[in-house]
Amino acid sequence: MCGIVGHVGSEQAAPVLIDGLRRLEYRGYDSAGVAVHVEGGDVKVVRAVGKLRNLEAQLGAAPLVGTVGIGHTRWATHGRPSEVNAHPHVAGPIVVVHNGIIENHLALRARLEERGAKIASDTDTELVAHLVAFKVQEGLDLEGAVRAALRELHGAYAIAVLSKSEPDRIVVAKSSSPLVIGLGEGVTYCGSDVPALLPYTRRMIFLEDGDMAVLTRAGASVTRIETGERADRAEKIIDWSAVMAEKAGFKHFMLKEIHEQPRAIEDTLRGRLDRENADIHGHEIGLTEADATSVTRVVLLACGTSHHAAMTGRYYLEQLAKIPTTVELASEFRGRDPIVGPGDLVIAVSQSGETLDTLMAAREAKDKGAKILAIANVIGSAIPRLAHAAFYTHAGPEIGVASTKCFTTQLANLLMLAIWLGRRRGTLDAAGARELVEGLAKIPVQMRDVVIGTRQLVGNLAKRYRDARDVLFLGRGLSFPIALEGALKLKEISYVHAEGYAAGEMKHGPIALIDSQVPVIVLMPKDRWYERTFSNLQEAMAREGQMISVATEGDDAAHRLTQDVVEIASVPEPLTPFLTVLPLQLYAYYVADFKGTDVDQPRNLAKTVTVE
Ligand code: F6R
Repeated sequence: MCGIVGHVGSEQAAPVLIDGLRRLEYRGYDSAGVAVHVEGGDVKVVRAVGKLRNLEAQLGAAPLVGTVGIGHTRWATHGRPSEVNAHPHVAGPIVVVHNGIIENHLALRARLEERGAKIASDTDTELVAHLVAFKVQEGLDLEGAVRAALRELHGAYAIAVLSKSEPDRIVVAKSSSPLVIGLGEGVTYCGSDVPALLPYTRRMIFLEDGDMAVLTRAGASVTRIETGERADRAEKIIDWSAVMAEKAGFKHFMLKEIHEQPRAIEDTLRGRLDRENADIHGHEIGLTEADATSVTRVVLLACGTSHHAAMTGRYYLEQLAKIPTTVELASEFRGRDPIVGPGDLVIAVSQSGETLDTLMAAREAKDKGAKILAIANVIGSAIPRLAHAAFYTHAGPEIGVASTKCFTTQLANLLMLAIWLGRRRGTLDAAGARELVEGLAKIPVQMRDVVIGTRQLVGNLAKRYRDARDVLFLGRGLSFPIALEGALKLKEISYVHAEGYAAGEMKHGPIALIDSQVPVIVLMPKDRWYERTFSNLQEAMAREGQMISVATEGDDAAHRLTQDVVEIASVPEPLTPFLTVLPLQLYAYYVADFKGTDVDQPRNLAKTVTVE
């Protein structure tokens, strides 16, 4: 989705804007642009279609000299990717970049055209520029004009605005789209996401929905859009170092992030495992002991990969805490007047904490009286802010669009939550909890062994099957969401058609896909579903599929029956997904790399999906 960066300081703005935009590339984009206040009271705009290097080439030929500016990467919503639709958009003295969607754009366009505005692009953003420009014409200063304009807009947006006649400031605002402010000595920044600003500062302010701010070299003054009242937003110190957001010698961020998972899990578990008492330190979970026993139902809300983590979470919550649990695609939850309310615990799972579908679904559940718990990776993002409590994963910044380390850290939080609830509800005894707590403590080392120990074999399999037209992933029970996740990873970065299926469901349809050309990856760790998965494996073999198994080490039957076996350590059943998913992530990565696709920024995808 679109990215915004802004700089008001004493150094040159353009290099900082480009660098920040580069750090937001992972969000996905199809054009980019910058605007800088230059000598003589003017603002110059440069825009280019395609990758940032095209914009840089233009800036190289005609540099923009000035210390105040805004930049943008655009992911097309209104109007195709083109230079005229790229941001920044200009109307009179006003220059705007915008992320999100203005819902009342049709009525607004008609109104502005009636007043004589000449609208050059198909975008909703240009309308914002014209509206602010009219307010300036009416005698308002930049801040007043932006405030007055925003009161007439509906939708989800983050914007940054310059005025040719006020060269020392940027006015920003947000409603349901991410925007952070970075504070430095004599310099202030804004950005769509923390990583864009990390090399420059760790002092951040997270705006609330309905906030606007004036950024000057002296800092940021935040007010409410509607009332104009001052809003004091505490400064937060972000402890992700900029180095963590670099590739660290790996060819792609995704490969780095796959390898980082043991560390990400260690960071996520730190301070939370109570090994002495076979329990979880649950203070961040935001539930009281009474809540733990009184909750009658859990509803998990999520999208995409986070939805697969949520599906795994349902097993944990049902098995360990014995709570009836449903899992909902957030995009399907809204609009059907879901039955949810007091007594329900709604858990919104989202790495970015900004996914609009999940945010809106959680808001609806909250409005209906449910208790909302967020599981998110980005501190201070919208979903945790909306929730009653946030139980953060500590994966560090995830840059590859395809989620890997955020997924496994979500599993860790869901499992810890289920153990904590199970202990309080009397459904998980001390011995059972001890096995899991000790298992969690050991899992980072076992994950490292799987990544390092299987990557060569998985790379060879990827090479062998890279031209396969279809790939099937099968699993039962805890391996079913992992089969779905394996298929999603392969689809999104290598563009190979893949299906994840509950192994027992295969005979009801997808078995028709199998022939000697189709690799079938069967997840069959030694768990309660093993025997039945084994039967399904034989059904697939009988159709001459190219069988690959992900199996527990020492499983002779797997070795006898499947051409290739990727081995994982034997772990307590709830921990198997932490290991089985790793070779699937690697498989998707290597197939994509052999095919030469854009692994970290696959076509059409965005890291943070802020449209419905
Ligand atoms: C796939 C992927 C997406 C996200 C989905 C939800 O690799 O990353 O499917 O999982 O867009 O995003 P979050 O977790 O940020 O809510």
